[in-house]
Amino acid sequence: MGTVRSRMTGIGSYVPPRVVTNDDLTQWLDTSDEWIVQRTGIRERRWVEGTTSTSDLALEASKQALESAGMVAGDLDMIFLATLSPDHFFPGSAVFLQTKLGISGIPAIDVRQQCTGFIYAISIADQYIRTGAAQRILVVGAEVHSKGLDKSTRGRDVTVLFGDGAGGVILEATDVTDPAVDSYIMSTHLYADGAYAEELWVPGVSTAYDEEIVDPRMIDRGDQYPKMNGRQVFVHAVKHMPEAVETALAQNGYTIDDVDLFVFHQANLRINEAAAQRLGVPGDKVFNTIERFANTTAATIPIGLHEAIKAGRLERGMLVASAAFGSGFTWGSALFRW
Ligand code: ACO
Repeated sequence: MGTVRSRMTGIGSYVPPRVVTNDDLTQWLDTSDEWIVQRTGIRERRWVEGTTSTSDLALEASKQALESAGMVAGDLDMIFLATLSPDHFFPGSAVFLQTKLGISGIPAIDVRQQCTGFIYAISIADQYIRTGAAQRILVVGAEVHSKGLDKSTRGRDVTVLFGDGAGGVILEATDVTDPAVDSYIMSTHLYADGAYAEELWVPGVSTAYDEEIVDPRMIDRGDQYPKMNGRQVFVHAVKHMPEAVETALAQNGYTIDDVDLFVFHQANLRINEAAAQRLGVPGDKVFNTIERFANTTAATIPIGLHEAIKAGRLERGMLVASAAFGSGFTWGSALFRW
């Protein structure tokens, strides 16, 4: 009899079919392919069309994850959906995903930790499995950014960075008998520092002003669009992501060289290159998707894991380190054997 831990038994991801290249963006805002590629590594992103919502994207990723785990939605004990772009102000989007999956009754929980949302969500789900309170949990990260971006030159510093997409995993309870070879989540590490909340945020829709939650003055100010202090984000991300990885490795008695693949949050290729350099990780051990999908916030890590599998870069038995940094500021890491 071993120790009860979580294992990722299924994975899925989905991006909408509409491709928006850097050149496409120049019809709305003053930018260039050269500026975007040089500073971020992004070449194109996906944008939804029509009524497609965050829970619609999450549904597609969830269906694939369930199928790859050999499960149906009715087998689930819990749902976690990490997103900063919910279908509606309330209720959370996890309940919309739940009903689209055709199930009811089980808890459906939104996680609001932005780019770190997926790491936070698997960490919480992992605790439920470790305590025996749940055995099979769907954890999804999904975002529709395209409907919330300032598509004028005023918003160009942020707008060029984001894309739409979803990714998810199934976590199942597993009995770990040999920690050196078994597939399981070894540890997760979560952090936050709200002193930096306003360095990367959407100021409105808001209850914090002497105005209605949605007020014409808010819209005049452009408060509904994300605002970012790019330099602060860069500096903190390249410090905190490597630190979180080092903490995870130290806790589990591994070194950088033991890790087979690093799947970081996809904020910006330059951030990930700097993080890898700080850690002393060779570039071929870092898997990036930002070139094709841009920053899909809570979805980047599960999309990255799934794309790495499709590309033959991630196989069962490999040791994976993931880390994310984002709005809040929040950051965290996870170490697991796939
Ligand atoms: N196209 C063309 N020019 C632009 C664009 C654009 N999309 N955006 C800004 N500029 C202009 C600015 O107006 C400025 O012009 P000026 O010098 O005439 O005033 C110039 O480019 C330089 O602007 P800076 O903000 O100084 O650009 P910088 O070189 O710092 O790069 C960037 C900005 C890429 C955002 C950088 O700060 C960065 O990498 N920050 C990390 C933030 C990040 O990646 N966030 C991702 C989302 S958050 C997350 O997931 C954690």
